[in-house]
Amino acid sequence: MTILVLGGAGYIGSHTVYELIERGENVSIIDNLQTGHLEAIHPDAKFYKGDIRDEEFLDKVLQKEHPDAVIHFAANSLVKESMTNPLKYYDNNLYGTMVLLKSMLKNNINKIVFSSTAAVYGEPQNIPILETDPTEPTNTYGETKLAMEKMFKWTSNASDIKFVSLRYFNACGAHENGKIGEAHNPETHLIPLILQVPNKQKTNIKIFGNDYDTPDGTCVRDYIHVSDLAKAHILAIEYLQKGNNSNIFNLGNGKGFSVKEVIETARKVTEHPIPELICQRREGDPAKLIASSKKAQELLGWKPEFDNLENIIRSAWNWHKKHPYGY
Ligand code: UFG
Repeated sequence: MTILVLGGAGYIGSHTVYELIERGENVSIIDNLQTGHLEAIHPDAKFYKGDIRDEEFLDKVLQKEHPDAVIHFAANSLVKESMTNPLKYYDNNLYGTMVLLKSMLKNNINKIVFSSTAAVYGEPQNIPILETDPTEPTNTYGETKLAMEKMFKWTSNASDIKFVSLRYFNACGAHENGKIGEAHNPETHLIPLILQVPNKQKTNIKIFGNDYDTPDGTCVRDYIHVSDLAKAHILAIEYLQKGNNSNIFNLGNGKGFSVKEVIETARKVTEHPIPELICQRREGDPAKLIASSKKAQELLGWKPEFDNLENIIRSAWNWHKKHPYGY
């Protein structure tokens, strides 16, 4: 198979490229390197530097590669930034997707798998969250991802494009080879921020609120390893290649861990005391987000291999201690 990966220099994109190449697939990457890293690009992938909003550029790559399927990670994903600069998110996430769909139609490419997020649900009404639960995003990022899903839905209704949308819960961890991992700037995610303490970049980890309605008062999340997410994309392509219809899947472990439990596990893994500091709640954080991934298990045959938080944090630590400042 020839697969075109948009955003293949980013965190989840680069892990998916490694997974595809390890399976012997032919991979091309488009990335504008605004948040992605040149060093994260697999040496055996073909790389086109450019922006998916550039229709002429995208048309040229699609014509040249004519991929069997596209995997689309090229989006902005910072919740806080999306609230202060919403139009950046509409432009890159939504307009970028529109240009992509136009180009796919023009070039008769009809299979696509793309990143969505738990943020489409907003404050969940049920735990674990099902794909059929109400979608009421509480931030612009989630809103643009939900709008992307709808754009795919209506476009696929009117054409032969088939899509799979994957709603990730909390992506974390790093490739076991230690060569690629999480490197955001600014970093906002809990596990890399915790690991900055044993890496001597800061003296404590802030806990955003300990008065939530959860067993220890801190927020509960469903942490899912990036390599398990990567594998789900490949299963989703296979699912479309078998002739199945478009679909939407949650991807999580189905287990929740509180912020305090994550910090405690990181202390064990790093053998560092990692002091904590209780702070105010962060605006817009739901108390609990846990996925039901039953549908992905049943229809895609997906089963996360990293179902243990300690192993997930160990893999993240393996990356961060060797790359304290990212790539
Ligand atoms: N947290 C802290 N201290 C920190 C950083 C985070 O206590 O320094 C807490 C947060 O309040 C939250 C938990 O740790 O309760 C996890 O926070 P992350 O920022 O790592 O992840 P989120 O759950 O906020 O975000 C994830 C995805 C987003 C997605 C969102 C949906 O990373 O892409 O879920 O709500 F939009």
